[in-house]
Amino acid sequence: MQLFLPLLVASVAANPLAKRVSGTSIVDLSNNTGEPEHLASGLLYGIPDAPNQIPDHFYTDIGFNYARGGGAQVPAPGLGWIWGLSEYQVRFASALSNYKTARKYNATFIFLIHDLWGADGKQNSSAPYPGDNGNWTFWDDYLTQWISDMHANNATTGLAVDIWNEPDNKPFWNASQAQYFQMRGRTYHRLRSAFVDRNDLPGVELIGPAYIGLPSASDSWWTKFLSFVAKNSSVPDQYVWHMEEGIGDMETSNGVLQSLLETYGLPSKPLNIDEYAIYKEQCPAGSAWYISQLERVNARGLRGNWQSGNELHDLMASLVSKPTAGTSEYNYTGTGYFPNGDYQVYKYYNLNMTGYRVGTSPSADLKLDTFATVGTDMVRVLSGVRIELGVWQITINNLTSVGLADSGELHIHTWGFPFTGGHFGEVDALTDLGWVSHNYTGNSVTFPIYNWVNTTAYAFEFYVG
Ligand SMILES: *[C@@H]1O[C@H](CO)[C@@H](O)[C@H](O)[C@H]1NC(C)=O
Ligand SMILES: *[C@@H]1O[C@H](CO)[C@@H](O)[C@H](O)[C@H]1NC(C)=O
Ligand SMILES: *[C@@H]1O[C@H](CO)[C@@H](O)[C@H](O)[C@H]1NC(C)=O
Ligand SMILES: *[C@@H]1O[C@H](CO)[C@@H](O)[C@H](O)[C@H]1NC(C)=O
Ligand SMILES: *[C@@H]1O[C@H](CO)[C@@H](O)[C@H](O)[C@H]1NC(C)=O
Ligand SMILES: *[C@@H]1O[C@H](CO)[C@@H](O)[C@H](O)[C@H]1NC(C)=O
Ligand SMILES: *[C@@H]1O[C@H](CO)[C@@H](O)[C@H](O)[C@H]1NC(C)=O
Ligand SMILES: *[C@@H]1O[C@H](CO)[C@@H](O)[C@H](O)[C@H]1NC(C)=O
Ligand SMILES: *[C@@H]1O[C@H](CO)[C@@H](O)[C@H](O)[C@H]1NC(C)=O
Ligand SMILES: *[C@@H]1O[C@H](CO)[C@@H](O)[C@H](O)[C@H]1NC(C)=O
Ligand SMILES: *[C@@H]1O[C@H](CO)[C@@H](O)[C@H](O)[C@H]1NC(C)=O
Ligand SMILES: *[C@@H]1O[C@H](CO)[C@@H](O)[C@H](O)[C@H]1NC(C)=O
Repeated sequence: MQLFLPLLVASVAANPLAKRVSGTSIVDLSNNTGEPEHLASGLLYGIPDAPNQIPDHFYTDIGFNYARGGGAQVPAPGLGWIWGLSEYQVRFASALSNYKTARKYNATFIFLIHDLWGADGKQNSSAPYPGDNGNWTFWDDYLTQWISDMHANNATTGLAVDIWNEPDNKPFWNASQAQYFQMRGRTYHRLRSAFVDRNDLPGVELIGPAYIGLPSASDSWWTKFLSFVAKNSSVPDQYVWHMEEGIGDMETSNGVLQSLLETYGLPSKPLNIDEYAIYKEQCPAGSAWYISQLERVNARGLRGNWQSGNELHDLMASLVSKPTAGTSEYNYTGTGYFPNGDYQVYKYYNLNMTGYRVGTSPSADLKLDTFATVGTDMVRVLSGVRIELGVWQITINNLTSVGLADSGELHIHTWGFPFTGGHFGEVDALTDLGWVSHNYTGNSVTFPIYNWVNTTAYAFEFYVG
């Protein structure tokens, strides 16, 4: 168990961590921001192709609600459309199976048609892209096949399509920017008319651009995309980008996006970060940080996936593990699943953080963040640092909003979320770090977090009045 000192027993100056970084994350109990929908409980791949291989409770306990796949990295003979119809069919079967698993839990499935095509990042350097040499036949034929297969399998409910993944990243799109916009305009209108529902409404969400780059006024992929979709009447149903480079934050990126939307006369739409967190951030501290960031701006989020081959299609994007996982003996069809430490964050987030959400703000250095809910019994504050050591503080304002006095003594229960054994380790429970009392005045309480272990997240709980 890690060292943890919830009380300010030593002076901060005397603490070896103090010189590193610091700051305060603030929770405002008077700012009700609505019902929790565990917006961050989505997964990129991570679902085995064999139905029911991972037991139900692993999905339901974390409130799993979004999936994303398209048969990537399925080995030969399953390399996708660009290698021929039978290679397409193997990838399609994988994606369809994942779609059915997602729907079993009422999760939305984002179909990755670039992976089914074969541009999963592992294609060779002479692999074709849609519209090469101005010839669209190969792509049009592909869409005809795919649309027909989706209809034939009734796979259009709870469906979204990322028209291409990370076209601004060469491993996924090694043709020109202009060719990408042509592909997108063409594909958007084709899918829009192919997937009208029984009431003649667009039943399938067409989302994007799923860039690796954060919204930026100086990134021509963003500015030209927004200008193109405005003229082309192909505005995405969700604005999508990724946070897979360990940089950026949601409030800044969303601020930039909203201002760009104004510039190009475009409507606001829901946000989706359908790949978030680099591998080392996929630990309790990092996940608590991302949850806080996504919830603040009401963005959906899907955990990125840093496994490859069969493990990409297993392990719930590094939330669960099993005997042989992460070793050379790895057995794709093997079972005996268990949760890792990161899993426990999502379980608490879904099962325990009920009631209503309240507004929070991150520390000024953006390293510490908090997500908080007010239940009928308790206030719960989940906090995580973006993989840093140091001393931070949490301030909780407006205690009278939950029926407490504006001064007095507050008993806070602390839980630790350890990352014992890392991504492949087993963690079955939180660490109970006990109760600590704080005297407070002025309707506000402040307490420190000594972060001795850069992967641990914490939850702080106290009874409402
Ligand atoms: C299923 O998900 C949709 C949103 O995608 C939601 O509106 C609906 O209430 C969910 N149904 C159940 C039974 O949870
Ligand atoms: C992109 O294409 C060029 C030539 O067409 C090739 O040299 C390069 O290796 C390709 N890059 C990737 C990441 O496929
Ligand atoms: C590269 O991939 C394409 C299919 O995308 C295939 O037709 C071609 O033969 C491959 N080239 C090499 C050198 O492997
Ligand atoms: C366009 O591509 C299709 C399919 O790849 C091919 O059959 C056809 O010959 C091409 N057309 C021209 C004009 O090159
Ligand atoms: C699709 O749904 C229709 C109507 O509900 C049904 O007749 C058909 O069998 C279904 N097809 C598949 C492949 O599930
Ligand atoms: C959108 O762009 C595509 C590709 O250039 C084009 O085929 C289509 O006609 C455009 N649609 C509209 C409404 O501008
Ligand atoms: C992999 O796991 C499956 C399912 O438990 C089992 O049938 C199979 O024998 C295992 N393969 C190896 C090589 O251990
Ligand atoms: C979270 O909720 C579950 C289900 O109600 C309960 O069993 C568990 O004890 C709670 N965990 C904590 C840390 O409160
Ligand atoms: C409430 O919290 C939300 C989300 O953090 C924030 O955007 C909003 O500005 C806050 N409202 C007030 C009145 O502080
Ligand atoms: C909540 O707390 C902040 C900081 O003390 C204060 O500025 C604000 O007025 C309070 N809001 C309400 C509704 O009391
Ligand atoms: C809070 O104040 C009470 C009396 O005012 C005192 O007995 C108690 O020790 C204080 N608690 C802490 C944690 O300082
Ligand atoms: C986190 O701590 C571990 C060991 O304590 C260290 O190896 C790693 O470099 C640290 N990571 C960061 C990003 O500081």
